[in-house]
Amino acid sequence: MEKYGLDERNHIFDEIIRSRRSIRVFKDGKPPKEDIDDIIGAGMLAPYAATAVGDIKDFRRFFVFERGTKSIDTLALLMENKAAEGVKHFEGLLKEKPFMKSKFQSFINRLKMIRDKGVPGVTTAPFFIIVAEIRGIPPAEQESLAHVLENMWLKTTALNLGFQLVSLTSQMAEDEKLMKLLELPVGKFALNGCAIGYPDITPKPTSRPNTQDATKWMD
Ligand SMILES: Cc1cc2nc3c(=O)[nH]c(=O)nc-3n(C[C@H](O)[C@H](O)[C@H](O)COP(=O)(O)O)c2cc1C
Repeated sequence: MEKYGLDERNHIFDEIIRSRRSIRVFKDGKPPKEDIDDIIGAGMLAPYAATAVGDIKDFRRFFVFERGTKSIDTLALLMENKAAEGVKHFEGLLKEKPFMKSKFQSFINRLKMIRDKGVPGVTTAPFFIIVAEIRGIPPAEQESLAHVLENMWLKTTALNLGFQLVSLTSQMAEDEKLMKLLELPVGKFALNGCAIGYPDITPKPTSRPNTQDATKWMD
């Protein structure tokens, strides 16, 4: 027996999809842990690549970091180090191939900002969640992670909380120190992460291409 009529379900779904935003400024207060559990529950319900995962049962894991703990300070430091490594790598690349400057410069600037000022979300939100998905054959873990994160994002929106995807997390999957902290074997899992808290600034909707222009109904 459905709890809501079709119109109501559809309306609520559209409302959540439309009001989802990338929140990049959070209030100090911590949302209740029950909300975080519900958000993780939504992530767990996201589809997974059954063929790639096979009969492995624990193919998806969640790690909740809280502001003010030792583990979040460690994570922040490891991610700053990763950004610093990235700066070195791409600046080296630009020395060899200066014609690539226009392509890489804004990315390098972003990495520099992270290196110098800390990772947005990790250092600014009350909760940071790392999601780990097992790597399978054929590789589909990044796609699965995107589904998990989107489910969590929509649930966060439904709870009137703010969510920031922090995609630098995906670069940390080979970091031995982080994987040791998570007690996961290096090379077996892909990662992504998000910051969650009460939104302080909610940005206006960002623009999208016109749907009709972007859609072709094939003959
Ligand atoms: C693959 C992917 C990676 C992203 N990485 C980040 C990120 O590291 N930090 C961030 O603040 N936003 C990140 N975003 C969010 C986008 O910047 C955001 O969705 C876009 O600017 C549109 O804004 P909206 O989410 O408010 O609609 C990412 C989004 C996607 C799809």
